[in-house]
Amino acid sequence: MPKNKEPKDKKFPLLAHKISRLFEPPKKFIEQFVEEGQTVADLGCGPGYYSLHFAKIIGPEGKVYSVDFDERGISALNKKAKKHGYNNIESHATSASELSFIEDSSIDFVYANGLLCCMTPENQQSAVSEIKRILKPNGHAFLAVAKGSISYMKKDEWEKILSGFKVLNRKEKRSELTAEVMLK
Ligand SMILES: C[S@@+](CC[C@H](N)C(=O)[O-])C[C@H]1O[C@@H](n2cnc3c(N)ncnc32)[C@H](O)[C@@H]1O
Repeated sequence: MPKNKEPKDKKFPLLAHKISRLFEPPKKFIEQFVEEGQTVADLGCGPGYYSLHFAKIIGPEGKVYSVDFDERGISALNKKAKKHGYNNIESHATSASELSFIEDSSIDFVYANGLLCCMTPENQQSAVSEIKRILKPNGHAFLAVAKGSISYMKKDEWEKILSGFKVLNRKEKRSELTAEVMLK
C-alpha cells in the first residue's frame, strides 16, 4: 500500500464472484445452518448468490437482510430477487460496520463469507460488535476470511475475534480461515 494512503474497505469485482462460485460449496453447504421461517443476515453479500439461496430456504415467513457497501452488488441482487419473486429479502447498500436497521438479538444466522478480510481493522471491529449485537442468544454465525496478502485479516486478529465467541467449529484451508460461532 502506498505510504500516507488511508486504508479503505475493498470492493470485489463481480467477475470474481462468478469465478469463486465454481469453487465454493453449493446451496447444500448453507442448508445445514438455516430453517424455514428464520431470520438471516448475509453481510458482504455481493450480488447475492447466497442471499437468494437463503431466501428460498427460509421461505415467505423468514427474512434475509442482505448488506453490501457496493451498490452494484445490491442492484444485481435486487434484480434477481425480483425475477425469482422473493419478497423476503431486505437489501441495504451500506457498510456492515453499522447495522442500526437490524434490531438487537433478532438474527438466527449471520453469514459473513469473505467480508471481514475486505474491511480495515477498525471496521472489522465495528462489524464484529454489530454481529454480536444482532445475534439471538442461541443464534449462529459463519465467518470466513481470505488468507494472504489480499486480506486485511491478520492471524492474531482472527484469533482475537474468535476468542470473543463460543467457537463450534473452525477450519484452516489453503486460502481461507472459517469458523462457526455463537455468542458466549
Ligand atoms: C469476497 S466478497 C464475498 C461476497 C459474498 N459473501 C459471497 O460469498 O459470494 C466480499 C464482499 O464484501 C463486501 N464488503 C467489503 N467491505 C464491506 C463493508 N464495509 N460493508 C459491507 N460490505 C463490504 C464487498 O463489496 C464484497 O461484495
